[in-house]
Amino acid sequence: MTDRRVITLTVNGQPREATVDVRTTLVDVLREQLRLTGTHVGCEHGVCGACTVLLDGEPVRGCLLLAVQADRRRVETVESLAPDAAHLNALQTEFVRHHGVQCGFCTGGILMSLTAALRDNPRPSEAEIRETLAGHLCRCTGYQGMVDAVLALAASPPAR
Ligand code: FES
Ligand code: FES
Repeated sequence: MTDRRVITLTVNGQPREATVDVRTTLVDVLREQLRLTGTHVGCEHGVCGACTVLLDGEPVRGCLLLAVQADRRRVETVESLAPDAAHLNALQTEFVRHHGVQCGFCTGGILMSLTAALRDNPRPSEAEIRETLAGHLCRCTGYQGMVDAVLALAASPPAR
């Protein structure tokens, strides 16, 4: 017998509701019910970071969190970053410019961890950037392009 609950959460600024099995993970609800497929599922046990989203502003592994644990809380996914469908935000733009993206499977999660880290520390050192990236696995880029992207963003004048 399944135990199902109705949860309400704010996702990317919008109130959302979902009926979920109590065993369902947050990332599965985001992808399969709310159709926010920018958050990816890789290892499904907390290692790769592809499923990273922000919960009340802090990065969490969407594959390790039950959807019911996000009830009445605020979730931000990679879809929240770009200002509109035709433009990228500054971090995304630097990722493209510095070849920090190849297949893109890891990118959404990495962008969310970096978004939280840059909010807390807008001028990180290379070591601090690498520490944030250490929570993520990328099979394509070798990470240097991502580091260069964040260093370029940190060196740019603040947005007005
Ligand atoms: S899918 Fe969640 S950490 Fe890998
Ligand atoms: S860009 Fe392919 S896994 Fe990171």
